[in-house]
Amino acid sequence: MSNKLPDVEEILEGAVKKHGLAVVPLLQEIQEHFRYLPEEVLRKLSQKTGIPLIEIYHAATFYNSLYLTPRAKHQINICTGTTCHIRGSGKLIEEVFQVLGIGPGETTSDGNFTLETVNCLGCCAVAPAMVVDGKYYGNLTPGDVREILNKIMEKAAVEE
Ligand code: FES
Repeated sequence: MSNKLPDVEEILEGAVKKHGLAVVPLLQEIQEHFRYLPEEVLRKLSQKTGIPLIEIYHAATFYNSLYLTPRAKHQINICTGTTCHIRGSGKLIEEVFQVLGIGPGETTSDGNFTLETVNCLGCCAVAPAMVVDGKYYGNLTPGDVREILNKIMEKAAVEE
C-alpha cells in the first residue's frame, strides 16, 4: 500500500457516482480508503450530497462494521463464544499476546494489528476459530495462530 494520502474529493466523487445517495454503501466505500470514517470526510460527504450529518452518523454508529476511530491494518477477531471457549480460545488470545504484545481491544503501537473478541463467528463446528482480515480460520492451536501472524508480518515486510 502506498503512503500517499487518499484524495478526499476524488474518493467522494467516485463513491457518489457509484452509490448515489445510499448512505451505507457510501460509508463502506469511504472506509475502504481510510480504514475508518474520519469526521472531516463525513462532513464533506454531507456537504456534497445534502445528506444530513445526523443521518450519516446514525448509520455510522448503527453498523458494527463501520468505524469512527482509526483501525489497524490487520484486524484479528478471536471467538470467545461457549464452544470456542471450551475448546481453548483463551490459549489463542494468550498466543496473540506473546507474539504481538496486545490483549483484546488493543492495537499494536505501529498500528498494524488490532485484537478483538467476538461472541460467535457462526462456525462452532471448527472451534476454536478466528477471523483475520475477513479470512476465517478454524480448529486452531496456539501454534497455528503464531504461524498465521508471522506470515502476515513477513508479507508486510516484503511489501514495504
Ligand atoms: S462459539 Fe466460536 S464460532 Fe461459535
